[in-house]
Amino acid sequence: MPAIRVPDGFIWGAATSAYQIEGAVNEDGRGPSIWDRFSHTPGATRDGHTGDVACDHYHRYQEDVALMGALGLKAYRFSIAWPRILPHGRGAVNQAGLDFYRRLVDALLARGITPYATLYHWDLPVALEQAGGWPSRATAYAFAEYAGIVAAALGDRIRHWITINEPWCVSMLGYQTGEHAPGRREMPAALAAAHHTLLAHGLGAQAIRAAASGAEVSIALNFEAVVPLSDSPIDRDAARYRDGYFNRWFLDPVCGHGYPGDMVADYSAAGYLPRGMHFVRPGDLATIATPTDFFALNYYTRVVVAGDLTPWEHRLVMLERPRTAMAWEIYPKGLYKLLLRLYAHYHLPRILITENGVSYLDPVDADGRVRDERRIAFIRAHLEACHRAIQAGVPLAGYFYWSLLDNFEWAQGYHQRFGLVHVEYATQRRIPRDSFAWYREVIAANGL
Ligand code: FCB
Repeated sequence: MPAIRVPDGFIWGAATSAYQIEGAVNEDGRGPSIWDRFSHTPGATRDGHTGDVACDHYHRYQEDVALMGALGLKAYRFSIAWPRILPHGRGAVNQAGLDFYRRLVDALLARGITPYATLYHWDLPVALEQAGGWPSRATAYAFAEYAGIVAAALGDRIRHWITINEPWCVSMLGYQTGEHAPGRREMPAALAAAHHTLLAHGLGAQAIRAAASGAEVSIALNFEAVVPLSDSPIDRDAARYRDGYFNRWFLDPVCGHGYPGDMVADYSAAGYLPRGMHFVRPGDLATIATPTDFFALNYYTRVVVAGDLTPWEHRLVMLERPRTAMAWEIYPKGLYKLLLRLYAHYHLPRILITENGVSYLDPVDADGRVRDERRIAFIRAHLEACHRAIQAGVPLAGYFYWSLLDNFEWAQGYHQRFGLVHVEYATQRRIPRDSFAWYREVIAANGL
């Protein structure tokens, strides 16, 4: 008997996303996405890496599904590339794109693996960015059309849907800091983008349910654990701001609480809302708060925050702590606290951790093994946090490790490796790491 057991039926999964693994960017009628453009912009990604080939999963999906079968996965979370389905963002449907995902899903179902499909994991069709991108309200309606098309075509096979992955990353990395596609740097536009990703979620959830009866829908929000550097009022206020900026701005409206008033005040004072909350139209908040069937959360790390003159000028402080290759602090306790907070304050339905994982750059040893003990320790610590939360009454129903495979880690290109499976990019050889065998045992025992 394992020392730690989770409830029967716990959903053991792994996750990926389309642009990060598929490659085949010019095949079978796929249109260009903002990540194709961005990754081909000099200086945008480390060493100019792009997702042109990535893990070549588009051609090797059967091999990858076989790996999932060997791992014993109960569920697999992947994303559907909008530009494969609608090369121009809206209008004519590209049947070949739908067919690819139908084949993938059939391969999963044949092995008893439940598909969890994300509809937007950051690959906006270029035509929609040219028309204004996420700062434009029309993009939310285009998303709902796309969601309805995919749900109508694949809803007989896919029951679990995630609308938008990480609206904070979409809006803030894409339109505030410019670290991600499309690389714009305008906070007022980023706040409009944030609203439209949330609106897209609500409209999309309704479109999915209209097209596929029995569908279960969520949005995937990412969370940071936030702590102040000291107990000083200015540090504590900076931590409140950071939590508002990263977590509550998205969580509160999705849970029906509207936008947090303290943040609206701070954003106004900072000059980020020159026209006020003009992008919020009557009915939007109700649409955004469309009840979800489960709640998908992604968690990686915590930040320590120090205040400056004003809360929006806060600094992230890099204390000496165990860190991953991403320089993210390893902080499993943050996951436990987050789960308890969500449960206590937001009364969420079933919760799923749809991403949690770690990048380390362990070598392939001479005997062909990758000894990634640190990844095993990371997962173990986070699963222990999950178990404690379950014992405290949190309705946590599943855990998806990020990621099944090493892949294109956005602005970091191929310099980060999150996979249970090492990918040798020159040959596309897949080498399951020690963590793969360990995770297989965890799944088989339903605990550790
Ligand atoms: C998340 C993203 C995912 C991956 C991990 C490391 O924010 O959703 O695509 O890049 O971080």
